[in-house]
Amino acid sequence: MKRLIIWLALAGFLSPAIAENDAFPFGDPKVGAKLFQEKCAGCHIKQFGDVAKAFVRPDRKAKDAPSVLAWVQRCNSNNGFGLGREDEESLAAYLNDSFYKFK
Ligand code: HEC
Repeated sequence: MKRLIIWLALAGFLSPAIAENDAFPFGDPKVGAKLFQEKCAGCHIKQFGDVAKAFVRPDRKAKDAPSVLAWVQRCNSNNGFGLGREDEESLAAYLNDSFYKFK
C-alpha cells in the first residue's frame, strides 16, 4: 500500500511535465537545450544580438506551439542540420518551456 501511494504521488508529480504540450509529445527540453547550444545559439546571437531575442521580441514569428515546431523545422532544414523529428520536438519543447510558454 505504501508503495502504491508513493507511486501515485510520483506519477502525479511527473505527468504535467510529460503531458506539457501536444504539439511535441516526444520532445525532451533537456535534450533540446543541449542541441540549441551546439547548433543554433551561435547564429541566433549573431543575428539578433542575444541568444533569446528571437523568441521574446515583440514581433516574433511563432504564434503558438505548432508554429514553434514549424520554425525549428525551418531553421533545421535551411541550415542542413539533418535533425530528426524527435530532436526537432526537443528543441521546440526547450524553446517553449524557456521562452514562448505556449500551452
Ligand atoms: C544561420 C543562422 C541560423 C541558425 C543556424 C539557426 N537559426 Fe533560427 N532563425 C534565424 C533567423 C535569421 C531567424 C528569423 C527569421 C525571420 O524573422 O524571418 C530565425 C528564427 C527562428 C525561430 C522563430 C523565432 C520567432 O520569431 O518566433 C525559431 C524558433 C528558431 N529560429 C529556432 C532555431 C533552432 C532550433 C535552430 C537550431 C536547430 C536555429 N534556429 C538555427 C537564424 C538561424
